[in-house]
Amino acid sequence: MVGLDLSGESLRRARSIAGRAGADIEFVQANVYDARRALAGDFDLVYTSLGVLCWLPDVRAWARVVASLLRPAGRLVLRDDHPVLQAVGDDTTHGLTLHEPYFQRTDPMTWEDEGSYIEAVDGAPAVTHPVSHQWNHGVGEILTALLDAGLVLDEVTETRYSAWCRWPELMERCPQGYRFSDPALRDRLPLQLAVVAHRPS
Ligand SMILES: C[S@@+](CC[C@H](N)C(=O)[O-])C[C@H]1O[C@@H](n2cnc3c(N)ncnc32)[C@H](O)[C@@H]1O
Repeated sequence: MVGLDLSGESLRRARSIAGRAGADIEFVQANVYDARRALAGDFDLVYTSLGVLCWLPDVRAWARVVASLLRPAGRLVLRDDHPVLQAVGDDTTHGLTLHEPYFQRTDPMTWEDEGSYIEAVDGAPAVTHPVSHQWNHGVGEILTALLDAGLVLDEVTETRYSAWCRWPELMERCPQGYRFSDPALRDRLPLQLAVVAHRPS
């Protein structure tokens, strides 16, 4: 098993967790767009978990990298925030209204925020570089990128729960993570997108 990340600090933490779990994982520091060059061999499974696509300006280039890493019949499992969740943005003063782009744009959404969803450890500041740039990608853009990269879609799921508490004032814990406290809202907005795809044999 190989884990890849741009950030040396993320990898340091990942190595520490893997060590404590006794898991034999190789960790490689690279930009995901360079993953084909950075990693040797083909893979049975590419797994990309939460908070992944929003950092990538070009979803089509990402899909081509994924396809290039898979052996024939190898699978992609993608689980990420739903792009609609990103489009709503932070401000829910007037309910769930759209503040951010849904579709991929060349220009990023840019924020300056010294807080982080990760707890600071050892009294260190949570964030030393507070400006972040993110890009949204619509469901159609993500799925078409995977199809155009040569993958076959097996399953596409939109969920009524998210893995993290996106809007604390509107959400409550549930067995899978967090959901809207108001049952009426649960049928209005998908919170997570999960895709299973494979490379043809
Ligand atoms: C929100 S975290 C996701 C963490 C992990 N998926 C999880 O569920 O715990 C986003 C991670 O993506 C990494 N990242 C952002 N852009 C990247 C890129 N272009 N190539 C590789 N990793 C990147 C960041 O360094 C960070 O560790």
